[in-house]
This record gives sequence, structure tokens and C-alpha cells, in this order.
Amino acid sequence: MKITVVGAGNVGATCADVLAYKEIANEVVLLDIREGFAEGKALDIWQKAPIDLYDTRTVGVTNDYSRTAGSEVVVITSGLPRKPGMSRDDLISTNAGIVKSVTEQVVKHSPDCIIIVVSNPLDVMTYCAHLASGFPRHRVIGMAGILDTARYRAFLAEEINCSPKDIQAVLMGGHGDTMVPLPRYTTVGGIPVTEFVGKEKLDAIVDRTINGGGELVKLMGTSAWYAPGSAAAQMVEAIVKDQRRIFPVCIRLDGEYGIKDCYLGVPVILGKNGIEKIIELDLTEEEKGLLEVSHHKVREVMNVLDKMNAPA
Ligand code: NAI
Ligand code: 2OP
Repeated sequence: MKITVVGAGNVGATCADVLAYKEIANEVVLLDIREGFAEGKALDIWQKAPIDLYDTRTVGVTNDYSRTAGSEVVVITSGLPRKPGMSRDDLISTNAGIVKSVTEQVVKHSPDCIIIVVSNPLDVMTYCAHLASGFPRHRVIGMAGILDTARYRAFLAEEINCSPKDIQAVLMGGHGDTMVPLPRYTTVGGIPVTEFVGKEKLDAIVDRTINGGGELVKLMGTSAWYAPGSAAAQMVEAIVKDQRRIFPVCIRLDGEYGIKDCYLGVPVILGKNGIEKIIELDLTEEEKGLLEVSHHKVREVMNVLDKMNAPA
């Protein structure tokens, strides 16, 4: 079984490495537009196989989509990363062009695949891939919620001084400043998080999570890749192993949560068909209000894409 990762940069190469190391696929094809770049990254990952003891074949190609043919899942990470001072939305015009052309090539060679978008601005790039692919919504999905939730879980584990394995949580909404934290659904070993952390500290952790991407951009001069690459690989694993994992994933809402025609992160069951089910939580009025703000923010950026695509 073959998985393709488009974009052999920081996130794409990390994702390919995790897919290989965990033997999630027999073959991982890494594709980039930069001559020789994906070939080099794939060769490096393959040369690690005898050390880390895995047998997933990693292959790198320069823009040769014929080598991606028949992929079960395609992860799209191609595009510019954020630099200091940039919002995710600033990336729209460049990355929309890249995601559109990549998606068109991908679907030509893998018409039955499931597409996972990582490129930013995430929610709108998922919309862009949906438009370019013509695939049904359950097969064009975006990765952000696992990452945002992981950041929140990591900060909580640090504060409580416990294993991050024991923190269960879910965040919803767009991948940006309007993401919707849901502390009342956060548990630590099955115990409500409020038994461990007071409101003030919890608010501070939520705030740090919301600004988590920006914190890393400020520190490194570019955006994160270890957690994003692993998060995308975790989604691939759930699909190819039909694990039916419950994750927050970006998908087009068609009336769920009272929202239509907008790409937002919501909890779903992820399995062999992509999104198997959207889980509709009974939100409080305050949470609904926050989701509505997120909806409008993402819709505004989707409108920018619609204007770019409108005939002159
Ligand atoms: P990067 O610059 O390290 O890698 C991007 C790669 O895409 C480069 O190697 C570039 O040559 C390649 N590329 C550009 N145009 C291409 C095309 N037409 N076809 C094939 N490859 C092409 O960037 P990085 O750090 O890997 O980030 C990738 C994207 O993921 C960015 O848009 C970034 O903002 C986004 N991101 C999203 C996250 C999320 O949670 N959804 C988290 C982290 C990053
Ligand atoms: C992140 O959250 C920038 O979306 C990227 O790290």
C-alpha cells in the first residue's frame, strides 16, 4: 500500500519519516518541486531503516506524479510556511495556487485516494483542495486539530506534572486565533481537568495553545514540523488501518453545528473511508458563540479564495 506526501520540506519529510518508522505503509512516495530535494530526503529516511529496523520503502521524486499513482492517502504539505509577523491567512494567494495545481495532479493519478491537507491557511486550503479535486467531503480533510489539541495536552501535562498520554482533550473550530477550546471535555486519567488546574491557569494554557503556532514561529523563524508531521501521519494511520480513531479534523460542515458550507475542525471518527462520522457535541451558548466567531473568520478567508477563483 502506497502513501504519497507532497512537499518534502520540514513537515512533509517529518511525516514521511514517521510513516516509514512506524511502518504505516509499504511504500512512501515523497514529492517536491525542488530538483533532487525529495530524492535526498527519501534516501536519507531509507538509509535510517537498517538502524531503526523498518522496511517501508521510501522513494523521492521531483514533480513526477506518475510515481504517486494508486496512492491510498495523499498528504499535501507543499506551500510556504509562516515567517515571523505573518498570519496563516497571509499565505493564501501563494499557497492556493500550489495546493490547486498539486491536487489536480494528485487526483489524476490517484482518483480514489483520501487527501489530507496540511498547508496553511489550513481550513481554506482544505476548501481549495476540495474544489480542485471534486472529491466528496469525507475524502478531503485537513490536519490542524490534532496538533492544536496536542499542544494543549502538552502544556497541561507540564502544569500537572503527569504523562501527556493521560490527557484527553478536544479543540474545535478554525486553525487560528479563533480555535475553540473545550476545557469541560478535558480529562486527566478520566478525571475532569478542573480537579487539577484552577480557572486562571487553565485560561492561560488555553491562551498559550491558541497562540501556540506563533510561539514557535517566533522562536525558530519558521513554523513547527515535528508535531505537525506526526499529527498528519497519525491521521494516515487511522485511515489505512481503519482504526476509527476520534480526532478533531477539518471538514466541510453541511449543517452540523448549524453551520453550512464552511471548513472547520470538529471531532470525527476517522477510518478507511476518511471521515466516517462527524460527532456533534451539545455545546453551551458560550461555546456556540465561539464557534460562530470561528465560522465567520474562516468564511471571510474562504470568500477571498472565491474572489480569486471568480472569472475576471
Ligand atoms: P517548507 O518550506 O519546509 O516545505 C514546503 C515544501 O513545499 C518545500 O520543500 C517546497 O519546495 C515544496 N513545494 C512548494 N511548491 C510546491 C509544488 N508546487 N509542488 C510540490 N512541492 C512544492 O514548509 P513546511 O514547514 O514543511 O510547511 C509546509 C506547509 O504546512 C506550510 O504552508 C505551513 O504553514 C503548513 N503548516 C501547517 C500546519 C497545520 O497545523 N496545518 C502546521 C505546520 C505547518
Ligand atoms: C502551526 O500551528 C503554523 O499552522 C502552523 O504551527
